[in-house]
Amino acid sequence: MFAFQGPFGRLAGYSAAVGLLALSLQAPAASTPPHAHTITYDHYSLSIDGKPTYLWSGSFHYWRLPSPDLWADVLQKMKAAGFNAVEIYFDWGYHSPKRGVYDFAGIRDVDRLLDMARDAGIYVIARPGPYINAETDAGGFPGWLVTTAGKPRSTAPDYTAAYREWMTQIDRILARHQFTDGRGTVLLYQVENELYDDSADSRRYMQDIEDKAHADGITVPLIGNHNDNFFTGVGAVDMPGYDSYPADFDCTRPERWNGVYDFASERKRLTHSPLFFPEFQGGAFDVWGGPGYEACRKLTGPDFERVFYESNIAAGSTMQNFYMTYGGINWGWLSSPGVYTSYDYGAPITANRILTNKYDQQKLIGYMTHAVAPLARTDAVATSVPDNPRLRVNARVNPEDGTRFYILRHADAADTSNDTTHLRVTLGKTGDTTIPLQAGTAIRINGRDSKMLLANYRFGRQDLAYSTSELMTQLRMGDRDVALLYGRHDEDGETVLRYSTEPTTRVIDGNVTAHWDAATHMLRLNYRHDGLARVTIGQGETSLLLLIGDNETAKHFWQLDTSTGPVLVRGPYLARTATGEGEQLALTGDTDKAGDIEVFAGPGIHGFTWNGAPVTAKVTASSSLQGHIDGPQPVSLPSLTAWRISEAAPEIAPTFDDSGWTATDRTTTPNPYWNHELPILDSDDYDFHHGNVWYRGHFTATGKETAILLAANTGVHLGNHGIFTAWLNGHFLGNNPSGAQQFPIDPSWLKTGGDNIVSVLVDNTGHLQEEHSGSFREPRGLIAATFAGAPTGIRWKIQGNVGGENLPDPVRGPFNAGGLYGERMGWQLPGFADERWATTTLPRATDKPGVDWYRTRFHLDIPAGQDVPIALRIHDIAPHHYRAIIFINGWQMGRYISDVGPQTDFELPAGLLNPHGDNTVAIASWSTAQDGGLGEVSLVMQGNYRSALDPKPVAAPDYQQVTKAQKASLKPGATN
Ligand code: GAL
Repeated sequence: MFAFQGPFGRLAGYSAAVGLLALSLQAPAASTPPHAHTITYDHYSLSIDGKPTYLWSGSFHYWRLPSPDLWADVLQKMKAAGFNAVEIYFDWGYHSPKRGVYDFAGIRDVDRLLDMARDAGIYVIARPGPYINAETDAGGFPGWLVTTAGKPRSTAPDYTAAYREWMTQIDRILARHQFTDGRGTVLLYQVENELYDDSADSRRYMQDIEDKAHADGITVPLIGNHNDNFFTGVGAVDMPGYDSYPADFDCTRPERWNGVYDFASERKRLTHSPLFFPEFQGGAFDVWGGPGYEACRKLTGPDFERVFYESNIAAGSTMQNFYMTYGGINWGWLSSPGVYTSYDYGAPITANRILTNKYDQQKLIGYMTHAVAPLARTDAVATSVPDNPRLRVNARVNPEDGTRFYILRHADAADTSNDTTHLRVTLGKTGDTTIPLQAGTAIRINGRDSKMLLANYRFGRQDLAYSTSELMTQLRMGDRDVALLYGRHDEDGETVLRYSTEPTTRVIDGNVTAHWDAATHMLRLNYRHDGLARVTIGQGETSLLLLIGDNETAKHFWQLDTSTGPVLVRGPYLARTATGEGEQLALTGDTDKAGDIEVFAGPGIHGFTWNGAPVTAKVTASSSLQGHIDGPQPVSLPSLTAWRISEAAPEIAPTFDDSGWTATDRTTTPNPYWNHELPILDSDDYDFHHGNVWYRGHFTATGKETAILLAANTGVHLGNHGIFTAWLNGHFLGNNPSGAQQFPIDPSWLKTGGDNIVSVLVDNTGHLQEEHSGSFREPRGLIAATFAGAPTGIRWKIQGNVGGENLPDPVRGPFNAGGLYGERMGWQLPGFADERWATTTLPRATDKPGVDWYRTRFHLDIPAGQDVPIALRIHDIAPHHYRAIIFINGWQMGRYISDVGPQTDFELPAGLLNPHGDNTVAIASWSTAQDGGLGEVSLVMQGNYRSALDPKPVAAPDYQQVTKAQKASLKPGATN
């Protein structure tokens, strides 16, 4: 699945970079709208409209969040944390259920997504593949590509024709959102994904994608995440990049750290473009049976973010994208084999859009990358070693203005000891100075920590000699500068500023001592980080408000831009937007509790509103405005009762009428992966690409059959968690995960000389991801069936999702429903009349393998203006042998395997869920052995926010509409 090894991937085989000259990309004059922009780059950084820019970016997959208004939520949250870019994979298979059919409407409306990114003020790194990996089915290849022959990710003609079809579609949309045209914010375009094969064919393939992209009107720089490949020659990209996952993906041991790899040598090799990480580890995916996402969040927690992301800065990287910043949900059958429904990824923003401590940490660094403009152009510079040998420091300098950066951490990144040191820093004319100056204090690295300290840094009208606190942001507000520094709670800090004459210094809050040194013209402030200290220095135009917080305090600050300048907001859970309206500021955001809000703005601002309501505010001693805002009202969720149940595997019964099913009678397929007996049984060959499939085999028994060997491929990767279950003439034969299993036959089950039926229900955990082999074409479903005792032949029929590639419900799309009887009958949909079903209560244990459907309705009454992330929980006191598919209002939002786990809570995104009305839940439970059933089912509240967010319902057809379309798509006679 991953072609990289070790901490960052394969780096061998590098050939000297010649690279491209910096591009100046202007849209052609004829179509140039008034606001065309330029994107250029050199070995330091990207420059946007000529301004060197640090790219601080996060990955987000819209297709893992099927509720468009929530895309805006994620993008706003990213922007609020200081991300200036979002990296997006576009999933071919998500848009193309059938060759030649492309859908960009509703939850697939990529135009709308890109408009939202523009409106949120965030750049887009577009990654349209054609191959994307991403732990998704077939790595993003569409189901219909499975039954083609050409080598994937090559110049094979059939593969080429297929991906060109996709590129024509997606490029058309991406092209009209390019930043260079002034219409959108698409900044960079990725060619393929982690292609580590430098063969002549791979090079031609890359070149063909690039030529096609250009022909389709793509003018922004082409990037790659191919580590050392495609730097020069055929197929070279404009800006090559490195992917790196130093913590790997084993979340079972979240304390375990690997070392920090020093990318300084890669930085040197990249002579014409910056050190760029299209994917640097932002979390980790988890696997079936894994420890769950909180463990992954710990593995890649704030300490990891500080140490590794700042090490990248130390190596000179000015382009970092984190995979993932919001992971989302593998709803429907989107996941590749191995991973489960949640793709939370232990990311900074959870699958249910909740901000975590990882988000807070990224905000601290992210704000700094924008506030400190000199960071975009730095060279490594030698520096003295710390006086504590357990620690190491890297230094960088901006060659134009002399700003220095000192990045300090433990020499062994995994070291958890608590250490202090002094540093020797170079202070312009003052020369080398050992800091901190204050006797009895030192710089501390307590455990897995990293600090990035500044020296010789000029901002606004200030001249910072150095600080042992870190800078979160600085801004000019009207006639004064404001700087926000922070450090770990209770640690000492020292900040030194230079002035020509001694300024007046006023400590408004906190315990800060000031010392003026007339000889060096330095004003030294000493303090301990605790809450928020406030100091004003100087008067009038040159004055500075210095805010010094501990990390906990700093994270509650939000910086927002308005047309009249930046503002700082302190207090709320989230500040989304700020707009200046005369003397008033209109702020929007979210609160998790009632509390104070403080606004730092220019002198022209005298008041503010919060989510449209005026806030009574007083002016503070630091000339900010302070008021109070409300938190959310308490919410209680209904219990799920009044369940109805229907047995739902009529396919098991020998009398079931399968005359409308497809006979598996094909004897040829282009797919080279069918290397089993004929006829072909592979479900993909019969256009059933996703979800469960049923097979019914008819045979005339001789009476001598003693056992049946059944073999299926359910998708084995990172464990074997698919399953198939089989019955003979209604008698349960047993189950098996994947592969072959011989099931003994009780002679009394056979009807000698008559029609006998083998019914097999087969899981499809997805198609494999792809290196080059074509393994995404591995068959799914049954692959072999033979009797022991007699050479009796079997004639098979297959049944999968309604319509195969012709979807009766294109809104929910190709991944939503499979071939269970209930799915085919539309029982998951709202509007289905289940009144005739029996009532039942949960938990419910069964002693009979098969499939049961459970349905109930519930009403939600979430107060308007509140965002309440809700999940559906299945709880089993002890594991039973069943797997459940969870539908909310017809959308498949979860797959639960009781005896595998780990996921028990399934996020239900607002928009699919109706927070202000009725909702339908339907659960199909496949009891794979005698002890099946369904556990306790409840709704859980994962958070409660008063919010500016107001997601609209996602329009989707109900039972009547889908079944009408379904009838139209069915072959005559095929009613079940
Ligand atoms: C990378 C790949 C991504 C994703 C990631 C692991 O190698 O490019 O698509 O699979 O690994 O989550």
